[in-house]
Amino acid sequence: MTLLNQRRLLLAVSDEPAASETIAFARLLASAGARVGIHEVPGAARWFGAAALEHLLGEGLAVERVAASWEADALLVLGGAAAKREWQVQRAELPLVQAPEAGRFPASRWLLPCLLRALSNRPWESLRLLVTAGPTVEHFDAVRFLSNPSSGKMGYALAEAAWIAGAEVILVSGPTVLDTPWGIRRIDLTSAQEMREAVLAERYDVVFMAAAVSDYRPVERRVGKVKKGVGPWTLEMERTPDILAELSASAVRPDLLIGFAAETHDMERYAREKLRAKSLDGIVANDVGAGGAFGSDSNCVQCYDGAGGAVSFGPAEKREIAAAIVAWAEGCLARKR
Ligand code: C5P
Repeated sequence: MTLLNQRRLLLAVSDEPAASETIAFARLLASAGARVGIHEVPGAARWFGAAALEHLLGEGLAVERVAASWEADALLVLGGAAAKREWQVQRAELPLVQAPEAGRFPASRWLLPCLLRALSNRPWESLRLLVTAGPTVEHFDAVRFLSNPSSGKMGYALAEAAWIAGAEVILVSGPTVLDTPWGIRRIDLTSAQEMREAVLAERYDVVFMAAAVSDYRPVERRVGKVKKGVGPWTLEMERTPDILAELSASAVRPDLLIGFAAETHDMERYAREKLRAKSLDGIVANDVGAGGAFGSDSNCVQCYDGAGGAVSFGPAEKREIAAAIVAWAEGCLARKR
């Protein structure tokens, strides 16, 4: 399973803006499974180096030199506004991938999501969607805290997949080192309490609660850094709010509410119990035992819906798992509406 799975992409190298990136774009797309056709206006090779293209063509990737009429699924014009307008007329039947201002952002951030969105039939076009991701961090003094090893990768991948499906996406994130996915508004916060406030502030059509919310927090947060003493230090802990359960019972409950469950054993039983106890529309369970999902680039999940259905996805890259979860959630939402 690759994201672009043989989709045919025409790279039209038309004038200088962005054309120097031709080789990098083609390589990135071909490695994501696309078939890439490069069409250059005469002399374009001076913008990216003719030898570099010859080298790329010899690498055995699915990249070839093609005519302007090459049969394609989408079009990416490497050139300025005038070139884009011309191609829009010439190949009006193709979805056009809009490259952001040349050179401002690395292609690794926008190219794949923008292309996948252009190729998508955007089933979630008019939906507002919230995704929570990452860990929460519960401080007991200025520099010490309680947290967990969630990297946020699964939630970020879901936010991106939902944007590709056409939704307007807000990502509520605990501390992570990840770049914000393309096209998405991100709200950064730290504690479960702050996450609760962000999640309950507005109503959304769909909510994915993928964050690994800390279940406990220290009762007291001391000012400054507490100096170490000789003896032990006992902390008193209290439960954090269960954001998902509260959202489920609230006036801002979304049309589709999906929770996550990270378990080390008896995954199905616990996941189904949570689905019922928190009155969810679906739950995505992953096995975090034995070095499982936390921090990894790949994952394997089981999805359970409120009607008793179950499906599993993976093992695969989190980006691919996210696309599968979004497609599954689309089905859940369609059945509810
Ligand atoms: O009960 P458990 O913590 O395993 O449930 C996991 C689900 O509940 C996840 O979707 C998580 O984001 C959410 N959760 C929450 N607030 C908490 C704990 C978990 O929203 N305090």
